[in-house]
Amino acid sequence: MANYISFLLLIFISTQISASSLSKCPKDCYCDLDPNGRYYTECNEPGMKKFNEYDFDPKMEIIIIRSPKNSLTIGPLFTRFRKLETLVITGANIPAIGEKSFWGVKSLRTLDLSDNNLTTISVMNFFDLNNLTELNLSKNKIMRITSGTFNYLTNLRILKIADNGLSSFLPRTFQSLTRLRYLDLSGNPIEDLTPEVFLDIRDLKAFKCRKCNVKKVNPAFYSQLSHLTELDMGENQLQYLVKDEFKDLKYLRQLHLDGNQLSAIVDNLFFEQKSLEYLDLSRNRMRNIGNEAFSNLSNLTYLDISYNKLPELGLDYMSNLPKLKTLNISGNVQLNLLNVRDIFEITSGLRSLAIADITDLPLDIFVPLDSLQHLNVSGCRLGNHTHQILEPLTMLKSLDLLRNHLTGFDIELTEKLLNIENVRFEKNHIICDTCNVGPMVDQKHLMKWKYMPECYQPEHLRHRTINRLVKENLVECYANYFLYDEGFDAASTSINFLHESQFHMFAVLFAAIFVLSLLIIIISISICTRQRAHYYTREDGKGDQMNGSEKCLEGSLITGTEINFKFPLDDDHICTVDEVCLPPPPIKHSSSPTDTRSS
Ligand SMILES: *[C@@H]1O[C@H](CO)[C@@H](O)[C@H](O)[C@H]1NC(C)=O
Ligand SMILES: *[C@@H]1O[C@H](CO)[C@@H](O)[C@H](O)[C@H]1NC(C)=O
Ligand SMILES: *[C@@H]1O[C@H](CO)[C@@H](O)[C@H](O)[C@H]1NC(C)=O
Ligand SMILES: *[C@@H]1O[C@H](CO)[C@@H](O)[C@H](O)[C@H]1NC(C)=O
Ligand SMILES: *[C@@H]1O[C@H](CO)[C@@H](O)[C@H](O)[C@H]1NC(C)=O
Ligand SMILES: *[C@@H]1O[C@H](CO)[C@@H](O)[C@H](O)[C@H]1NC(C)=O
Ligand SMILES: *[C@@H]1O[C@H](CO)[C@@H](O)[C@H](O)[C@H]1NC(C)=O
Ligand SMILES: *[C@@H]1O[C@H](CO)[C@@H](O)[C@H](O)[C@H]1NC(C)=O
Repeated sequence: MANYISFLLLIFISTQISASSLSKCPKDCYCDLDPNGRYYTECNEPGMKKFNEYDFDPKMEIIIIRSPKNSLTIGPLFTRFRKLETLVITGANIPAIGEKSFWGVKSLRTLDLSDNNLTTISVMNFFDLNNLTELNLSKNKIMRITSGTFNYLTNLRILKIADNGLSSFLPRTFQSLTRLRYLDLSGNPIEDLTPEVFLDIRDLKAFKCRKCNVKKVNPAFYSQLSHLTELDMGENQLQYLVKDEFKDLKYLRQLHLDGNQLSAIVDNLFFEQKSLEYLDLSRNRMRNIGNEAFSNLSNLTYLDISYNKLPELGLDYMSNLPKLKTLNISGNVQLNLLNVRDIFEITSGLRSLAIADITDLPLDIFVPLDSLQHLNVSGCRLGNHTHQILEPLTMLKSLDLLRNHLTGFDIELTEKLLNIENVRFEKNHIICDTCNVGPMVDQKHLMKWKYMPECYQPEHLRHRTINRLVKENLVECYANYFLYDEGFDAASTSINFLHESQFHMFAVLFAAIFVLSLLIIIISISICTRQRAHYYTREDGKGDQMNGSEKCLEGSLITGTEINFKFPLDDDHICTVDEVCLPPPPIKHSSSPTDTRSS
């Protein structure tokens, strides 16, 4: 009974709660409590034309309007939401924020108006938002930030204005943002990071200006932002870095310099970066890294120097990285691999290695890396030695073998790969016959990979994933004879596959011709014998009947014992009458009355 009552009570309470949370919910929107017990409304349906504040429950703490292709204007519509903490209106083509739009919305912490059509922002837009901590204005068309714009945002920690059209800032633009920690200006054509602009945000921890067309950074900029722990200057046009470049950034932990035009790293460039953990120098033009370039990088765990033009890796600089866990040297296509094994001896603590798009890996290259867990060897032209190369790596959890020259999995490779949780094997030309995929198909129930490799040959199995093959239906090693005969070379896979499919076609054509000629012979022989019987009775063979017997006799005459059929496409294969044609008792008969012809 007590149970029953409490059950009813529970139902009553829960209907009350859901009723109150759903008492007002705009059409096509979703309203509920979030995991933290806050009321939220989420509208993801397109076509909203107007923000009608009376459609929303005033208790809302989170409002998210994220439908694409909306067309909204906003104004002072939010005052009735006394508890509003988060407001997100993205993809709504909002042309302007309007003055005092957020007047009285003291509780607002996060405002995301990214991906709209804003062109300018000014001081009255953010009136009364002195409790705001995060503002996202990315992906708009903001060309200008007028003076004092951020004056009310005294508590702002995170400001994102990426992907706009800003090319310059008024001095002291960030004057009131003394608490700002994170600033993202990526994707604006800024070019010049004028130090005076950043004078007021000295406690900034993260600064991002990817794709800002920056060619050179004024040293004073760094000395002002000396508390940075993360600096992202990727995809700019930096051509060189001087030895003292980063001397003021003593607390730096992440540095992104990828996609610039750096051609060298000078000695002691990171002299002060003892805290640096993450360094991305990929996609530059580096040919040279000084022997002492990485000295003092004793805390570095992640180094990406991929897609540069390095002719070799230096034992000296690589030995300054005792904590290195992740290394990417992919795409340095000229890299001399002779000393790489020695370098791996020093960096034997590596957990993750990418060495993609480098060819001719020595068979023993990975011997020192027995704690490696993630390996990327895509585009390395690995062929039938893959198993040997991977042999020493017993801890692998993920392996990328994309874009290699593997035709399948032999028994050893199958064993190896099935022990790895995640293998990428696409874009190899897998031949789905018993030799190449047989061992894997036998154990397909053990394949747990996210992406299943697909057959390339034979044609009728193309794009079939390996785990859907049935052993009994596979062709028996049909390609092997051809592949090894032609000196199958990893570098010319595609050419060989062309040959191979031609070969396949020819074989079919061949067999057809063969069977056809066999049939013709049999038929003509049988016609011939029947005709002969006919002649014997009638003895007046004429016209086409005569021709028929003529052919028949001719054959038997010329050969006597054997006729050589030479197949046009195969010079070696000679088919003798004995082998191909059926027993010739009628021909034997016919050889005696050859004179019928003369009649
Ligand atoms: C907003 O910040 C003020 C201090 O600036 C504080 O007194 C007030 O409680 C905050 N309001 C809310 C709703 O958090
Ligand atoms: C800010 O806006 C960008 C662009 O729409 C979006 O990708 C990003 O997730 C937003 N960030 C936050 C914290 O809302
Ligand atoms: C964005 O605003 C400009 C005028 O400021 C207008 O010409 C343009 O059509 C708007 N963009 C869209 C997608 O409506
Ligand atoms: C190096 O990293 C460790 C932990 O990863 C940290 O405790 C230590 O403070 C760092 N050293 C420096 C100089 O930052
Ligand atoms: C950097 O390393 C050099 C030796 O390579 C050392 O003399 C110097 O004191 C180190 N700098 C700092 C800031 O630790
Ligand atoms: C280099 O390898 C690391 C780890 O595998 C990866 O996170 C990073 O994206 C790679 N860099 C490039 C430029 O592909
Ligand atoms: C392996 O490297 C290639 C080339 O850099 C890259 O495209 C691919 O995404 C990487 N694979 C993984 C799993 O990161
Ligand atoms: C691997 O392929 C090469 C040709 O690229 C061939 O010479 C060699 O015999 C093959 N090895 C094995 C074990 O099949």
